[in-house]
Amino acid sequence: MTVKLVVANWKMNKTRPEVARFVEAFAARVESLRELEIALAPAFPFFVDAADPAGRWALAGQNCSSEKAGAWTGEVAAEMLASAGCRYVLVGHSERRKFFGEKEPLLRRKLARAREAGLVPIYCVGESLDEREQGSTWKVLERQMEGLSADPPDRPVVVAYEPVWAIGTGRNASPEEAEEAAEYLGRLLSGRRELRLLYGGSVTPQNTGALAGRREIAGFLVGGASLDPLAFAEICRQAAGATPR
Ligand code: PGA
Repeated sequence: MTVKLVVANWKMNKTRPEVARFVEAFAARVESLRELEIALAPAFPFFVDAADPAGRWALAGQNCSSEKAGAWTGEVAAEMLASAGCRYVLVGHSERRKFFGEKEPLLRRKLARAREAGLVPIYCVGESLDEREQGSTWKVLERQMEGLSADPPDRPVVVAYEPVWAIGTGRNASPEEAEEAAEYLGRLLSGRRELRLLYGGSVTPQNTGALAGRREIAGFLVGGASLDPLAFAEICRQAAGATPR
């Protein structure tokens, strides 16, 4: 059975005291969720503050450098994330693609650094509204998946389908749309031994149940709703409890 994974992507939010408050409130609510894997992706300075000494959740980096180490001011290496306690790293989030011009050749190098450091990448893909309306969703996803072409197929990988039009907009993909995309990505990645396909884009406690009930969806990447410990705990609870159909 695939253990579901729910990841909180805090983006550039939360100061140190806010991280501490989240951890306290969240820890009180995740006690019984043993069947679910949870990861928090705080900003780089707060891995220590966001870590759970009891091991109920893992840590994820939101990004890593495509370089190993050295004179790259402002960058953070995958190896540093691993030594700071991360198990996962997001690669190719749509905000990195859009605001920082990250494209597949660079993402391939980031993935290679993540693997060298022993991190499991959470590789993000998703079409924009224009691309969906033009009917090029599948072509775009196929191109974005080229980022994974050199990644070893026998290593566990997580792929997050996050349609850009659903991120931070309050308009989530329907369970049918999310599952259709997950099925398509699953076919492109049929050679992978251990694959989990997540959905991301305006996931809330209100829509988690319906999305989690889809067989192809092995968890969620949650932005806005993950900032609130109660909402995020509820998303985790529902993701853990859903019986796929
Ligand atoms: P959202 O963000 O849940 O706020 O839409 C998701 C993401 O960007 O990973």
